[in-house]
Amino acid sequence: MAFRFASSTIVAASRGVSTNLAPRFLTPQARRAFSQSHTRQQGHAATAAPAPTKFTPFANSARLRDGRALYQDVWTIFNSANLPPECINLGQGYMNFPPPKWARAAAVDALDVTEGNHYAPARGRPRLRKAVKEFYGTQFGKELDPEKEIMISSGANQGLHAAWAAFLCPGDEVIMFEPFFDLYLPAIAFNGGKPVYVPLHPSEEPVPGRNVGKQSWSIDFDELRRAITPRTKMIVLNSPHNPLGKVFSRAELEAIAQLVREHDLMVISDEVYESLVFDGLEHVRFATLPGMWERTITVGSAGKLFAATGWRVGWLVGPQALIDPALAASTRIVFCANTPMQEAAAAALEQARERRFFENQLEEYAQRRAVLMDAFEKLGMEYAWPEGSYFILLNISRVRWPEDYKFPDSLNGRADDFKAAWFIANHIGVSCIPVSEFYCDEHMHIGANYARFSFCKDVDTLRTAAERLQKLRWHLS
Ligand SMILES: Cc1ncc(COP(=O)(O)O)c(C=O)c1O
Repeated sequence: MAFRFASSTIVAASRGVSTNLAPRFLTPQARRAFSQSHTRQQGHAATAAPAPTKFTPFANSARLRDGRALYQDVWTIFNSANLPPECINLGQGYMNFPPPKWARAAAVDALDVTEGNHYAPARGRPRLRKAVKEFYGTQFGKELDPEKEIMISSGANQGLHAAWAAFLCPGDEVIMFEPFFDLYLPAIAFNGGKPVYVPLHPSEEPVPGRNVGKQSWSIDFDELRRAITPRTKMIVLNSPHNPLGKVFSRAELEAIAQLVREHDLMVISDEVYESLVFDGLEHVRFATLPGMWERTITVGSAGKLFAATGWRVGWLVGPQALIDPALAASTRIVFCANTPMQEAAAAALEQARERRFFENQLEEYAQRRAVLMDAFEKLGMEYAWPEGSYFILLNISRVRWPEDYKFPDSLNGRADDFKAAWFIANHIGVSCIPVSEFYCDEHMHIGANYARFSFCKDVDTLRTAAERLQKLRWHLS
């Protein structure tokens, strides 16, 4: 098979891509550093040397700007420190419950062994790689080889970064569906890639027994086809999806696989929410579709599986030809993921089946999901049916606030979802995340109608939030 994953020639095409930031989105420090760096570069030869100062700030690399890393991001604006203390945080996707006791015990045990406190092999602790292999069994259509087809990373994020560092050549185009998990963009930009955005489209589909229309989100395949150019290197998939809660159907993934084959592309399949697929739906592993194993790196996360996001343990799964380069990059980035938490993740995976952990966890999440969905049903507000993950996307376009309502300056220049989310947090007492953040500037208007609510909280907290949210009815058009 003649793949061209390593090819690269730079083209200047900028079709449909919009990663430039309006200066108003930059933090004041970032804006200063950029105007200084810009002036210094432009004036380099022509202008007289500046008067000596004690210290001149160094110019930032452009990749910070291109990757929106200097952006005053939504997490900072909606940080709990900026919100009323009693506000319930359904914005950030962190759990307010610990990993199971037996998983925590495994972490303590790992620290008690001398070896557990030292470097791990760069590819990952053998015990964890074996546990990952056994966790997946034959789900990839074959048994995985832990010596060649699994690499442990410091959380899924670092695995993704390593994969992009390994395969992106300057100017390579990377297709992402919008809304997208916001850390993709900086990681792709830092590694020389050029994001190309294909928005998913909300469509009304009534769900039996529900009063409010289900909103599903679908791919416009003509749009996707048009986004592919000779410079396209890869497509990033995320199913179950953050923030939509969408689980991509087999038919959708097969149609994507068809394009991948036609255009000789590579795929990063982010499946970190693999254990949270509701309603008996099928989680299709993209790598199992015909011809896709050789082209796909699948990404997993112990943090998402075990409510242990602070452990920072994740992994990449794929053919040796894709894992070895990612491992080479990962070795130079972090050398290895932290040892004790790898041991703990291994022990947790080893025990999970016998304890029916994932089955029980899914039931608990289904109850949590029901609390929020019922609250939105009662309010008559449209939401995307969460088929997977722990996010619900709510249509907040009907939320109204008093004309003289005072918003902070950090919201200046932001789409209306920022205002709605701010109003809901401050006036109703429940925080959520405005979704325009997960779009490029050009498509931001689509996201501006939505806010993301996380249900990775205990049921009591969610019930209190649901009660508070009923007050929203007085603020709907
Ligand atoms: C879609 C998606 N991918 C990757 C990650 C990162 O996972 P980890 O915490 O294992 O780095 C997240 C975390 O929120 C996510 O939502």
